[in-house]
Amino acid sequence: MSNELVLHLVVNGEPARALVPASRTLLELLREDLGLTGTKHGCDVGDCGACTVLVNGLPRLACITVAADCAGEHVDTIEGVAVGGQPSAIQAAFDHHVAAQCGYCTPGFVMTLTHLFTEEPEADEASLRHALGSNICRCTGYVKILAAARDAQARMRNPA
Ligand code: FES
Ligand code: FES
Repeated sequence: MSNELVLHLVVNGEPARALVPASRTLLELLREDLGLTGTKHGCDVGDCGACTVLVNGLPRLACITVAADCAGEHVDTIEGVAVGGQPSAIQAAFDHHVAAQCGYCTPGFVMTLTHLFTEEPEADEASLRHALGSNICRCTGYVKILAAARDAQARMRNPA
């Protein structure tokens, strides 16, 4: 008996379909089956946040999420964050503050902040630091990332 299944879900607002082993992780589905390699493969054990995506608007670590559990759900990845072909306010702020060195952690941080500022536009410093605590950066450090996050929040409050 095959242990593969046909999975239907909505990724970045578009219907997606893949034939996957029942054990496929959401990270493998996104990167290997759907070609969405913006979501990064870091620790693979749920520690680093590099694989953070949103499932029905909530942050999920794709490396420890079984793809089949997302059947029929809405998944948002870094590829869907840009607005009208332009970087989102968060992406623009990361660029402005040079808040990335190798950039491997950046998609995860952007997705974490996308959720935070959607749910909590007025997030205070404690909430901001708490949210960012679920993502690890091994090279840039957190000063620039925090500056970018604060700037992004300001840009979202007062769009140009
Ligand atoms: S790769 Fe998923 S938490 Fe590190
Ligand atoms: S910029 Fe390299 S891990 Fe964060």
